[in-house]
Amino acid sequence: MRQIARTKIQITPVAMGCWPIVGITSIDVTREQSLATLNSAFEAGINFFDTAYCYGYQGESEQMIGEVFADKRDQIVIASKGGIHWRDKKQIKDGRPETIKRECEESLQRLGTDRIDLHYLHAPDPKVPLTETAGAFQELLDEGKILSVGVSNFSLDQLKEFSQVIVPNAYQPHYNMLQREIETDRLPWCIENEVSLMVYWPLMKGLLAGKLQRDHEFDPQDGRRKYPMFQGEEWEKNQNFVDELREISSETGHSVAQVVINWTIQRPGITAALCGAKRPEQIIDNAETMTWQLTDAQITRIDQAIKNRGPIISKAAV
Ligand SMILES: NC(=O)c1ccc[n+]([C@@H]2O[C@H](COP(=O)([O-])OP(=O)(O)OC[C@H]3O[C@@H](n4cnc5c(N)ncnc54)[C@H](OP(=O)(O)O)[C@@H]3O)[C@@H](O)[C@H]2O)c1
Repeated sequence: MRQIARTKIQITPVAMGCWPIVGITSIDVTREQSLATLNSAFEAGINFFDTAYCYGYQGESEQMIGEVFADKRDQIVIASKGGIHWRDKKQIKDGRPETIKRECEESLQRLGTDRIDLHYLHAPDPKVPLTETAGAFQELLDEGKILSVGVSNFSLDQLKEFSQVIVPNAYQPHYNMLQREIETDRLPWCIENEVSLMVYWPLMKGLLAGKLQRDHEFDPQDGRRKYPMFQGEEWEKNQNFVDELREISSETGHSVAQVVINWTIQRPGITAALCGAKRPEQIIDNAETMTWQLTDAQITRIDQAIKNRGPIISKAAV
C-alpha cells in the first residue's frame, strides 16, 4: 500500500481508471461489463478508483462506482474531479468556485457517499484565477466533503499558483514510458513539495498494452485515432518499441501491460498508475503486476528501448 501525500489514506499503486467504462471513446462497452469490471478490480486487490464529474454525459462513471461499492464504501478510496462538464458533447472548463462546489455536491450524490477521499480540479480554467478556484477546494475541505485535494493537467507555474492557497496532496498528469515531459520540472517539484503523482495513460490508451497489432484498423468511433501516437510514422515507431516490450514480457512470463505498469509504479516519485480498463480480464491482468517486480537488468533494458524509440509527439488529454 502507498499513501496519498500528507494524509493517512492508503491506496494501491495500481488504481482503476474509470473513464473507459462509460464508453464515450472506448467502443463495445456495456453497462453490465462495466459493473463487472469494477467488481473484478476490487476482487483483484485494487482499492483506488479514479473517476470524474464528466466521466459519462450524465455522470455514469460515478453512479456505477456508487452502485457497485454501496456496501463497501470504507474499503475503497474514491478520487473524483470537478471543473469540466459537457455541453453538446463538448467538454467545457468551468473553475468558478460556485461551479466547483455545486459539482462536488452532485458527485457526492451520484457516488452515494458523504465524502470524496481525493478531489481534483480536472484542468485549469483560463477565465478564473487559480487562487479563486483553490479557495473553493479549501471550503470543501473545511466542510469535510473532500478529504484531500488534487489538481490535474497543470503546468509547473499553475502548480505554484494553486499552492499559494493550498499545496495539493496529489497531481495528475499523463505519464508513461513514452510521454515523460513531467520529469524535467513537475516531477521534481512534486517530490520536493510532498505531492503524490497519480499518473494517467500508463498504457497510452492501450498502445502499450501490446495487444494492438501493427495492422490494426481503428474503428471510426475509436477515440484513439485523433492522437499522433496512433498515426503514420509514429505508430510504426511505437510498434517497433512494443515489439521490444513483447520480448521482455515473454522473458518475465507476465503480459506486456503488466511489464509497462510495473515499470511505471517503480519510477521514483510515482505514487499510483491510473489504469483504465473496459473488461474484467484487463483489470485483473493489470492488478497482478502488484505481485511481482521487474529486475534491475530488465529495467535497464526497457530504459535503453525507450532511448532507441527517440523523441515522440506528445499531446495531453485536456
Ligand atoms: N485527468 C485527466 O485529464 C485524465 C485524462 C485521461 C485519463 N485519465 C484517467 O486515467 C485513466 C487511464 O487513462 P485511459 O483509461 O484513457 O488509458 P490507459 O489506462 O492508458 O489505457 C486503457 C485502455 O488500455 C486497454 N487495456 C487496459 N488494460 C489492458 C490489458 N491488461 N490488456 C490489454 N489492453 C488493456 C483498454 O483498451 P482497449 O481494450 O480498447 O484496447 C483500455 O481501455 C482514465 O481511466 C482516467 O481515470 C485522466
